[in-house]
Amino acid sequence: MTQDRKPPLLQIKGLKVNYGGIEAVKGIDLEIHEGELVTIIGANGAGKTTTLKAITGLLKWAAGEIIYLEKNLEGTPAFRLLHQGLAMVPEGRGVFARMSIYENLQMGAFVRSDEAGIRADIERMFGIFPRLKERAHQLAGTMSGGEQQMLAMARALMGHPKLLLLDEPSMGLSPIMVEKIFEVIRDVSAQGVTILLVEQNARLALQAAHRGYVMESGLVTMSGKASDMLDDPKVRAAYLGE
Ligand SMILES: Nc1ncnc2c1ncn2[C@@H]1O[C@H](COP(=O)(O)OP(=O)(O)OP(=O)(O)O)[C@@H](O)[C@H]1O
Ligand SMILES: [Mg+2]
Repeated sequence: MTQDRKPPLLQIKGLKVNYGGIEAVKGIDLEIHEGELVTIIGANGAGKTTTLKAITGLLKWAAGEIIYLEKNLEGTPAFRLLHQGLAMVPEGRGVFARMSIYENLQMGAFVRSDEAGIRADIERMFGIFPRLKERAHQLAGTMSGGEQQMLAMARALMGHPKLLLLDEPSMGLSPIMVEKIFEVIRDVSAQGVTILLVEQNARLALQAAHRGYVMESGLVTMSGKASDMLDDPKVRAAYLGE
């Protein structure tokens, strides 16, 4: 899948992010090529969310570079990113609580002006997530955690992203919904969307991904083909509960 001749879609070099005196990310390198599904796994507090927040401009970084579409992202305001094809589904909720499901989906398409296409995509999302259709006019803030997670994912897809960043999309979902969300992730990837997936569910993430990175205490301690990582004794012991 890796296309070596093309520059990576996203390249992170020597990224450091601090919160006050705390070094949360201590100099990491990471790259994603067009069409790849790459996962970052790691324990609580490893710096995964911090890395995603740096990419989307929600946090200033202390050192390093984040290059997307061959341009340094430093200083790019978050609202511009979707125009450049970069969408994030944040950890936990992240939907517009006081808007309905339908309005949230419309908001996800704010960078588009093809009204008929937007309506067709909303119907497509309702096909993938029937629960959202049943509740189209309910306020998003009154949906269950899992329902909000589905909505957040559907809303991100409405923007037709080139690169989709997912922060623990399976968190808080029932086992059936976890399977469903991974099925959606695999489908979206198969349609050509590049995905960076942060997950606690290391097994499912590595099974779905082409490549993976392990983060520990702010550092990348391992990276490689996801299938090799699934077989790695250290990964199996630390992250697959074996
Ligand atoms: N706003 C903040 N202020 C201070 N420290 C923070 C802040 N956000 C995160 N941290 C710290 O930075 C470190 C990395 O946090 P981060 O949220 O990136 O971890 P994570 O890998 O996403 O963990 P999890 O799997 O639990 O979501 C942690 O030690 C955390 O306590
Ligand atoms: Mg996190």
